[in-house]
Amino acid sequence: MAKKIKKTETVAGECPIHHIAFIMDGNGRWAKKRAMPREFGHKFGADVYRTVMKRCFELGIRATTFYVFSTENWKRPEKEVSAILTLLDEYLDRCEKELIENDVRFIFIGDKSPFSDSLREKMLRIERNSINNHYICNLALNYGGRSELVYAVNQLLKEGKESVVEEDISARIYTKESPELDLIVRTGGDLRISNFLLWQAAYAEFYFTDKLWPDMSVKDVDEIVENFKQRNRRFGGV
Ligand code: IPE
Ligand code: IPE
Ligand code: MG
Repeated sequence: MAKKIKKTETVAGECPIHHIAFIMDGNGRWAKKRAMPREFGHKFGADVYRTVMKRCFELGIRATTFYVFSTENWKRPEKEVSAILTLLDEYLDRCEKELIENDVRFIFIGDKSPFSDSLREKMLRIERNSINNHYICNLALNYGGRSELVYAVNQLLKEGKESVVEEDISARIYTKESPELDLIVRTGGDLRISNFLLWQAAYAEFYFTDKLWPDMSVKDVDEIVENFKQRNRRFGGV
């Protein structure tokens, strides 16, 4: 199979980040600044997501997670919600083949049950068809960190467990196929986690930038990785 994503020569094998996650915030404000409807920001943001994901893989990062739509985002006007879901549907059609050929494994994290049958089936097909690929892209859709933990606990109850250890929960969260989370990046200037990866964030580093998501570029990803390399992670030690 053709494997088109090539690690950049200078950093191949050296990247200390195994799993990076992005809170892609600021699409609406980006559009507003241009006197355009919020949906325009989401459309542009979808292209930026692809650029950022590819750069992460080129730099040797194996797993990426992108916050696309939260369990709280249903509170938005119906027009915006349906525009986001339509964009997603179109994106999946356009990119399915190309990204599977690029050795990317897609995993849709979150509760798929509220989506239309056709969207849900498309997600399941893409997950199936990319299952043996090396790079991981978790797309968080109808995702909430609290609801993920409730899901994991319910799984354990169904299995009849009476008491659990941390590993039991780690093995039942949506990102169980990915390495430990190293870094959470949030664009858009707000300093909060907004119900994202609550369990996984235990010892992740954080990177906040005022840049709005649609303004992010390959250069920004490179800067984030360089910044991470300067960090001293102690994990509770000295
Ligand atoms: C993030 O951008 C994308 C989603 C939550 C779907 P926003 O739409 O939240 O953009 P701002 O924060 O309003 O600018
Ligand atoms: C977080 O952004 C969710 C996504 C990026 C999908 P929000 O814009 O929904 O977060 P809040 O409301 O500012 O916390
Ligand atoms: Mg926002």
